[in-house]
Amino acid sequence: MRIPLVAGNWKMHTVRQEAITLAEAIARAVSGLSAAVEVTLCPPFVFLEPVRQALADTPVQLGAQNVHPEPEGAFTGEISVPMLASVGCRYVIVGHSERRQYFGETDAWIARKVRAVLQGGLRPILCVGERLEERQAGRARQVVQAQLEGALDGLSEEALPELVIAYEPVWAIGTGQNATPQQAQEMHGFIRSWMRARWGSKADSVRLLYGGSLKPDNAAALFRQPDVDGGLVGGASLKASSFLAIVEAAIGVSSQGGEA
Ligand code: PGA
Repeated sequence: MRIPLVAGNWKMHTVRQEAITLAEAIARAVSGLSAAVEVTLCPPFVFLEPVRQALADTPVQLGAQNVHPEPEGAFTGEISVPMLASVGCRYVIVGHSERRQYFGETDAWIARKVRAVLQGGLRPILCVGERLEERQAGRARQVVQAQLEGALDGLSEEALPELVIAYEPVWAIGTGQNATPQQAQEMHGFIRSWMRARWGSKADSVRLLYGGSLKPDNAAALFRQPDVDGGLVGGASLKASSFLAIVEAAIGVSSQGGEA
């Protein structure tokens, strides 16, 4: 059984005290919930340490929004996997569409990051997803398949339990227009079958998150889909109440055993 994961991607939001207050509120509330879900917060790099302290002795885990594939070196301004591990990170978002779009990240570059994260003992949350014009042209699956092949080809099956994939259609990110549960399940099912073709039933251990305008009022219907194993939450992760409502939706669905 896959334990759902709800990850908050704070992007370039919050200043120090806001980050601490938000992390503390979430950590307090999650500590009182059942353990049927994993929760991780991905604050900006500069707040990893204070957020780690806010999460200490709670079940909420720490994640980063990005990483450089080399373990160290002359790469001014960059952050490595060993650095993230040393401040207590468990997860790292890799290949977010904003990194692909604004920072020119390619599939080959993202593949190096995925491997570096796994080699460093952390868990990558690999983001894939098509743009609106690609969906309208009927190319959504093709685009996602190319991203998966580019980032994961040759990955050994031993790494699969550590891997998380987030399907985030670009047209749904920050737009208020989420994918419907059917659209999400259709793509998640496709990703699952792509993985099964490579790794057989081992692929069933990989968690597939949905991301893109996930909100308290649409989370449960999305999480009820059989191949949606939680969510990557942007805007709604910046308020403790909305993020916690999404976490509770994941717990509610997982305790009911998913889609009837
Ligand atoms: P959103 O962002 O929830 O604000 O749409 C999701 C993401 O980019 O991870």
